[in-house]
This record gives sequence, C-alpha cells and structure tokens, in this order.
Amino acid sequence: MTQPALFTLPRDKAINIATVPHRSPFRYPGGKTWLIPYIRTWLLAKPESPDMLIEPFAGGGIAGLTVAAERLAKHVLLVELDDDVAAVWQTMLEGDADWLVTKIVSFEVTPESVRSILTKTGCTRAEKAFQTILKNRVNRGGILAPGAGLVKNGENGKGLTSRWYPETLKKRILAIVAMRDRLRFIHGDGIRVMEQNAHRKNAVFFVDPPYTAGGKNAGSRLYTHWQLDHEELFRITSTLAGDFLMTYEAADEVRDLAAKHGFDTEAIAMKTTHHAHLNELLIGPGLSWVRR
Ligand SMILES: C[S@@+](CC[C@H](N)C(=O)[O-])C[C@H]1O[C@@H](n2cnc3c(N)ncnc32)[C@H](O)[C@@H]1O
Repeated sequence: MTQPALFTLPRDKAINIATVPHRSPFRYPGGKTWLIPYIRTWLLAKPESPDMLIEPFAGGGIAGLTVAAERLAKHVLLVELDDDVAAVWQTMLEGDADWLVTKIVSFEVTPESVRSILTKTGCTRAEKAFQTILKNRVNRGGILAPGAGLVKNGENGKGLTSRWYPETLKKRILAIVAMRDRLRFIHGDGIRVMEQNAHRKNAVFFVDPPYTAGGKNAGSRLYTHWQLDHEELFRITSTLAGDFLMTYEAADEVRDLAAKHGFDTEAIAMKTTHHAHLNELLIGPGLSWVRR
C-alpha cells in the first residue's frame, strides 16, 4: 500500500483552523482543532495504523473524533473526569442520542428558556448532556466551570443565540453516533487509564492535560478539574510501551520535566481564541516527523 503524502507543517506559523473539519459538538476552551494537521502527520508517518488511540484528557475530543472519522487508528478511547462533559459523551456513545438531537433542534433559545434549563437539578444523564451543550453554547468562551458568565452581545450582537447552531450540532452528533463501533468513552481519571494501558505496544496516546503554569494560564477558570500532578503524569508517560504525543504550554517547568524523562520537544505556533500567537510545546519520545 502506498503511504499517504505527509503535510509540510508550518511550525512557526499558526494553522488556519478554517481548514480543519469541526467534528466536536463542543466549543472547548483549550480545544486542539488547530493541532489536527500535526496529529494526522504523526499518525500517517507510522508504517501501520495503531490498534487504538487513547485520549486521556478528552474534553471536546477533537483529536479522537478526527482519528475515528479518518480511520487513523482502528479504535479510539476517550477519557474525561468532568461529570457534565462525560454526560454528553455517554449520551452520544451509549445513550439516547436521538432524544438529545430532537431536544436540540426543537429548543427555542430565550433568556427564560435558557435559565430554566441551566438551573434545573436532578437531571437524567441525557438531560444533563443537553444542559451541558446549551451551557457550552451560551456561556462566554464556552466555559463550563462554575463562575462562567453568559455571553452578552455575542457574535453580531445576536446575544444568547450567537453560538447556537442546532442543525450543525445535530449533524455532528449523528456523525459521532455513526462511529459508535470504533469510539469508546470512559468517565474517569485519564492517568489511571494510561497506567492500565501502558503495556500496549500498538496503542498511541494523545495527551492534552489541563495546565496552569505560573498561574498565568487560565486553567483554573476554564475547567472544573484543573489540578493535576504533572510529575506523576510524566512518570506514567515514561512507562508507555506505545508512542505518545503530549501538548503543553511552552513553560520552563514543562521543558524541565520533559528533559528529566529524556523526551523530545518541539515548540510550535498556536492561535488562541484572541488571535495571539503563543508557543505550544509538543512532547514525544521522538518528534522527527515534525521536522520533516
Ligand atoms: C486542555 S483540556 C483538553 C482539550 C481537548 N484536547 C480538546 O481539544 O477539546 C483538558 C481536559 O482534561 C480534563 N481533566 C482534568 N483532569 C483530568 C483527569 N485526571 N482525567 C481525565 N480528564 C481530566 C478537564 O476536565 C479538561 O476537559
């Protein structure tokens, strides 16, 4: 079989995310849509497609969804600790996704209807999934953590509806349902799942943990679960028999941890939602595929 052509990656220029298919129903803070060309290049450079891609800090899961949709690995395992985010994945992959889709397309967004859904307690899992998707669309920056405020004027002064695209959400959710046979979700601790799968030679790991270096990064405002033992994560990562790609803010503390474990690093340009160019640090056992 001939190898698909590899992309030339613009390491010093941010990737234009308009060129990447958006497959996640989430607009995820810290989402990695912009990294997709790198993830493709990483996996396509392998002589054989991996048995499984494990994404231990899944969030909106764009990496896993792309890998499943483009069959860059045979199976995908997503792991996420957050209850609300988990409810969405579980409803799409194991639950009543049709109910969720119907609810989304029939919902009329008004300040009252939004308030009534967002303040509802004692929800079923599917109701919680709907509540989470709505919150993700009407909160400023898609932030789901407590304390996040609602959008005010939104795009073009359209207020609460400015990010509510029911037909797009329906399309994305149904596309995910159609991949149920090769997508699995675990509601739990990503580090433990990495540990349990560390022996698998033909599993690969895409690791995008929450990070709050120097208090500069807004991780603690973006996610409910933002605290993580980074030393432990690096230690477990060093025991993986399979390949991995980790991504972090390019901070000295992170470079030191990578050096301590003998990992390769490469700083690349990224685009934040505010269009500032920052450096992101890719980490792996060997990153020669980035430099080709
Ligand atoms: C940087 S975000 C991941 C974004 C994701 N790559 C995307 O493109 O949408 C980190 C995620 O890790 C989750 N998280 C934090 N601690 C975790 C843990 N111990 N196990 C699993 N997930 C965790 C957070 O809730 C958050 O969703």
